Amino acid sequence: MIAIAKQAALAAGEILLQHFGNIPDEMIRRKSQNDFLSFVDEESERAIIETIRSRYPRHSFLAEEGGSIESESPYRWIIDPLDGTKNYLSGIPVFAVSIAMEYEGKLVLGIIYDPVHNEMFRAEQGKGAWLNNVRLQVSAKSGLQESLIATGFPFKAKQFLPQYLKSFEEIFTRCIGIRRAGAAAIDLAWLAAGRFDGFWELGLQPWDVAAGAVLIREAGGKISDFWDGEGFLFNHYLVAGNSAVHEELTDVLGKHFKAFQNVY
Ligand code: IPD
Ligand code: CA
Ligand code: CA
Repeated sequence: MIAIAKQAALAAGEILLQHFGNIPDEMIRRKSQNDFLSFVDEESERAIIETIRSRYPRHSFLAEEGGSIESESPYRWIIDPLDGTKNYLSGIPVFAVSIAMEYEGKLVLGIIYDPVHNEMFRAEQGKGAWLNNVRLQVSAKSGLQESLIATGFPFKAKQFLPQYLKSFEEIFTRCIGIRRAGAAAIDLAWLAAGRFDGFWELGLQPWDVAAGAVLIREAGGKISDFWDGEGFLFNHYLVAGNSAVHEELTDVLGKHFKAFQNVY
């Protein structure tokens, strides 16, 4: 299955590279305020689903751009055909394809492919996380005071800005620096690779985080919602890190968002 997932990611990556820097403004659509879409997102999703279905015609799919298919199968693929669309459409070379698979509701496989840098991040439950042929391990930083943290801004949920900014202030004051790459799958893959030491964002969807969750766990890291719970795939409050950084981040975020659990 990992071989098919890789094949699907490579096919999608080829489509993304083929059109990168070449999307006319009139071909860009707005999904909602601050949320964009182009034919490339859809073409990439089609290529991924076709590749996987040609081998596994009965599996289920949860895909961002409308390609979801429900079936009785215990296998479900969770797909973001282009994570970092705004970067992509602006010519910023930070975006990725994200493909995960669940078996009986448990995440067991994840691939994040960055075609610009030819970085194929992959993980399977119990088999470790890998970048190309190198085994990945989250960083060994002992806490926020030595950490580079990644985040995403709540641009689709600005009602949370006061709580977000309070958390930002506390984390920023305590850590080395904060980055906003603009692609959650990249944030999570880079965390699994030890490039970032922690990450938090609210408002993410299952396809943004499913593959990254497998990578982070297999690289020895922790991922949860702001209250250290398992509901992060669907409840939109995501925090991850090596275990020391994850613990500090959940303390800060759990506190500032205390009154907002179950609100998003
Ligand atoms: C987005 C990116 C971004 C995050 C957004 C996501 P998309 O995904 O991951 O970093 O801040 O919340 O929606 O729309 O580019 O696939
Ligand atoms: Ca996404
Ligand atoms: Ca997307």
